This record gives sequence, structure tokens and C-alpha cells, in this order.
Amino acid sequence: MPAEFTLLTGATGFIGSHVAEALLLDRTWPVIAIVRGGRGHKNTLELERQGAILVRGRFYDPDLLTQVFTDRRIRNVIHIAALTGEGKGRKEDYNKVNIQGTEKLLAASYRHGVNKFIYCSSVGVYGAVPEHVPAGLSTGLNPDSRYHRSKFSAEQAVQRFIGKGLDACIIRPTIAYGLRDRGFPFTLIRLVKKRLLPLPFCSHRIHLVSAVRLANMFLRILKLEGLHNRVFIAADEGPVLLSDLVDLIHSFYFGRIYPRILTLPNTVFAALETVFSASHCTRCAGRVKRLSRDWFFDTRGTDSLIGFQPANTLEEFTKYLGLLG
Ligand SMILES: NC(=O)c1ccc[n+]([C@@H]2O[C@H](COP(=O)([O-])OP(=O)(O)OC[C@H]3O[C@@H](n4cnc5c(N)ncnc54)[C@H](OP(=O)(O)O)[C@@H]3O)[C@@H](O)[C@H]2O)c1
Repeated sequence: MPAEFTLLTGATGFIGSHVAEALLLDRTWPVIAIVRGGRGHKNTLELERQGAILVRGRFYDPDLLTQVFTDRRIRNVIHIAALTGEGKGRKEDYNKVNIQGTEKLLAASYRHGVNKFIYCSSVGVYGAVPEHVPAGLSTGLNPDSRYHRSKFSAEQAVQRFIGKGLDACIIRPTIAYGLRDRGFPFTLIRLVKKRLLPLPFCSHRIHLVSAVRLANMFLRILKLEGLHNRVFIAADEGPVLLSDLVDLIHSFYFGRIYPRILTLPNTVFAALETVFSASHCTRCAGRVKRLSRDWFFDTRGTDSLIGFQPANTLEEFTKYLGLLG
């Protein structure tokens, strides 16, 4: 029987590189990664060294997709590539890459009869922070920015193709931490090291996910039979207090907890949120919300269904800090 492959997008990025590593270590199916950079583009040499087959181009180029799907039997598709975060482009760019790009990949996957399509969405479909916590699968969606709306629309596209008969799952990771991250946890570490992070007096619960465990979840969902057309929330075993995480980071580098002189009344954060929201700066408003409000998720359904072992954030984050050095 000819070999069957897993097609991966976003393998050069933070989460995609962890998923690629998990797939390549597992070796059940060889991995084809569509990457847009030439030789030496970030992480491509590492992907090749680990055994991935690289195809250069855009994951939403119809000609490229036809070639990839006809050259080899693609069994699974894991779609992770996206324009991520706010302020990375115009509305048209988010539409083209995150929504229409996903639709083109879904169409090719459907046409060529893939066994399983996994779409990497985001808890951003609930908004920068969810209105109710813990947010779960029955919580209403409230995408509140260009990026979050594009993830929401891409989820809707996945649901449309499920309606046509494609076997697809959606994973909504919360904010991930781990090697190669350049997002919220990375910024948090930098600000804590420089002692530039203002904290609210009253600390809030935040819920992260280890990128390594998240990659393991992708692999489990790919390999488990009988998981049809489900949505999963991916997060560590429970929320942590933002102040505990900040103290952990500060203690790791300086041997003592974060100076309390850097705390501000919660009303300052509320005022900032109002100002940023009124001036339509969704990125800044989102950051203030993440520092001053609770955001955590109910993942019990996901974890028990797939036998997933979520990480303890403070333990896993300590390991991550150790790797960063
Ligand atoms: N990081 C998080 O905490 C988090 C949380 C929830 C959900 N997610 C989701 O996880 C996925 C990956 O996020 P990430 O943090 O790993 O992002 P990332 O590091 O920025 O990686 C994004 C990936 O998408 C590719 N990409 C970006 N723009 C593209 C374009 N215009 N055309 C083709 N490919 C493009 C990048 O390719 P290049 O290497 O060529 O730039 C890269 O491989 C996204 O779908 C995101 O919505 C992330």
C-alpha cells in the first residue's frame, strides 16, 4: 500500500513547530509541511533535519494544493498556519489568509477525501477574555477583534465542510508557552525581568497551555478513532493566579518575589480598558483585560474524552524558564 502522509501548515511557527516535532517523533505517518520561506527560513532546517518533507509556497495556493494532494496520498491535514494576533495586517489580509486560506485548504482536503482534518482555532473566539468563566463549549462566542473574528469565521468554514461530510475537529488552544514563543508569556517574562509590568492589586486567574502538551493533544486527536467533528479546548490542568506566575518568573531570575510597589489599583486597569476600547485599540484593550480580568476554561470534557494529561502550569513554566536560561 502506498504511504499515507500528514499534511501540516504553520510548521515554521511556534505551535506548528512543536506539533511537527511530535508528529515526526511519533512516525506513524510521514509529514509534509507547506512552508512559505526558502531554505534557511526560520525552523526549516530543523524541520528537514527531523525528517519533514518541505513543500515551498502558500498553503492556500490552489495549484500548489492540487500538486500536493495528487503527488501523494494525504491521509490527515493539520492546519495551524495563520496570521496571528492583532495588528499583523489589514482586514483583507486576515480574510485572505485565515478565512479564505482555510476554505481553500478545506476544499482541497474534502475533494481528495482526507480521513481527518484538524483545525487549530483559538480561545480568542470567546473574546480577548471570555465574558463568563470558566468558559466551556456551551459558552457563547464573542470574537472581539479582527484576528479573533477571522478565527471564528474559519471555524464556521470548518463546520460547513463538516456538514458536507468532511471529518474535521477544531482545537481551541488558550495562550501557549514554550520554546520559540514570541507572544504573551514571552512578553510577560521580558517585562517581569525588567520590572516594567504593572499588576492589579487584586490578582486574577489566567489559564495557559504548555506548547509541548498541546502538540501531544494534536497527536492524540489525530490518532484516536471515533472522534468525529468535535471541538476541544486545550489548556493546562487549571488556572493560576497571574501574581503567582509573575512571582515565579521573578524568583527564577532574582531569587525573590516581584516587588509589590509595582501594583496599581484595579480602577486604573478599568480606566485604561475603557480608553483603549473607546479609541478602538483592540490590541491594547486586550492586553489590559488579560492583566486585570479572570480568563480560564473548562477543559474536563476534552481531557477525559481523549485521555489527555494536562500540565501543571507552575511546574511546566519553571521547566520552560530553565530551557530559556
Ligand atoms: N500562540 C498562541 O498562544 C496561540 C493560542 C491560540 C491559538 N493559536 C493559533 O495557533 C496557530 C499558530 O500560532 P503561533 O503562535 O504558532 O503563530 P506563529 O508563530 O506566528 O506561526 C504562524 C505560522 O503561520 C504561517 N503564516 C503566517 N502568515 C502566513 C501567510 N500569510 N501565509 C502563509 N503562512 C503564514 C507562519 O509562516 P512563516 O514562518 O513563514 O511566517 C507560521 O508557520 C494559529 O492558528 C493561532 O491562531 C496560537
